[in-house]
Amino acid sequence: MRTQVVIVGGGPSGLLLSQLLLKSGIESIVLERKTKDYVLSRIRAGILEQGMLNLMREAGVGDRMDAEGFVHDGTLIAANNETFRIDFVQRTGTPVMVYGQTEVTRDLYEAREKAGGKIVFNTDGVVIHDAKTDAPYVTYTVDGTEHRIDCDFVAGCDGFHGVSRKTIPDSVRSEYEKIYPFGWLGVLSETPPVDDELIYANSPRGFALCSMRNANLSRYYVQCPLTDHVDDWTDAAFWDELKRRIPEEAADKLITGPTIEKSIAPLRSFVTEPMQWGRLFLCGDAAHIVPPTGAKGLNTAASDIHYLYHALKEHYLEGSDEGIDGYSQKALLRIWKAERFSWWMTNLLHRFPDQSDFDLKMQQAQIAFLRDSDAAQTVMAENYVGLPY
Ligand code: FAD
Ligand code: PHB
Repeated sequence: MRTQVVIVGGGPSGLLLSQLLLKSGIESIVLERKTKDYVLSRIRAGILEQGMLNLMREAGVGDRMDAEGFVHDGTLIAANNETFRIDFVQRTGTPVMVYGQTEVTRDLYEAREKAGGKIVFNTDGVVIHDAKTDAPYVTYTVDGTEHRIDCDFVAGCDGFHGVSRKTIPDSVRSEYEKIYPFGWLGVLSETPPVDDELIYANSPRGFALCSMRNANLSRYYVQCPLTDHVDDWTDAAFWDELKRRIPEEAADKLITGPTIEKSIAPLRSFVTEPMQWGRLFLCGDAAHIVPPTGAKGLNTAASDIHYLYHALKEHYLEGSDEGIDGYSQKALLRIWKAERFSWWMTNLLHRFPDQSDFDLKMQQAQIAFLRDSDAAQTVMAENYVGLPY
């Protein structure tokens, strides 16, 4: 087989890229290790920046998102027995949207299928060959049969545990990582959200977040030790812990119910450099991870896709390789800023096991500064709604 761009990974990054390329008449084939149902069952991100919304619209898959997504003009921060609000629209003129990653992926799969785009599921043993030459190719097996696709470019959209990043030799690859000493226990429940907006809470018992997917689907998180197992947490224990960490008014009106999903995610900051090697380009979680505190995971994937899509368009439609050559540098500039914001927000809102009294005072002072300073609120809002592409 031959195509112009092989996309390894059928998560949001890979699907979005394939759909955008299709709009510009550039051919691609997506290789996905799992089944479609498996990809659709992963409950992950919930907040979309304007940049991501615009890309979805540009890819022709924005209709359901615009009809069913919830526009959020601000967010609540609760700490030290008080709650204050950061107004994104007042500070930046821009809101964010609540629309789950599962819905994004569903819309992209639907559009891809309708357009007759090629997605190969259940691929095994993907290997990227000759990425440093003008004639790369990718091999893989499905049900034991080996296949080969020759192509012009390979987009590595295969997440943190994929093969693309590791295809770049150790000698050219640098990795920067910070592992946080806690995780997030998250639940999804078919109950109305406790508030119209998200509540990020720093409490003496640890961080908690009240989020949502729609009017009858809530997403809640509590910071937990890395040694905890999901099975140790009954629904009752989760609700009890959440109530102890959020403001009293919220705890009093919290509607609880059976959880329909429960999982623990470790928190990590990670960046690999460079994000390209010859004709292989890394996008999304394949290249970088953020702790979820700033809601930047999916949104940073989107900015990579924006840069790569425009670079490929310039290559095929305008005969210029400027975008291709500058992809890594351009993408990393924005990624590091999102890494900084996610790291800052994680430090601001979590309790750390080795936090000294001085550290705690610094955290409280940072929160008070954010509460009292217009400038600090503008900086926070500017980052939360997403820095420009
Ligand atoms: P992925 O979604 O990881 O997709 C990669 C795809 O590649 C997968 O479908 C995988 O099956 C496939 N793949 C992997 N290896 C291969 C291979 N060798 N061959 C073929 N296919 C392969 N972000 C937020 O903003 N908010 C959150 O609350 C949040 N929660 C998260 C919870 C968890 C448990 C995780 C892991 C991430 C979370 N994120 C969150 C981050 C966000 O979901 C990711 O940033 C986003 O999914 C990145 O999309 P992606 O397409 O780059 O990678
Ligand atoms: C979510 O709704 O899953 C969510 C929202 C905001 C975050 C992280 C996760 O910062």
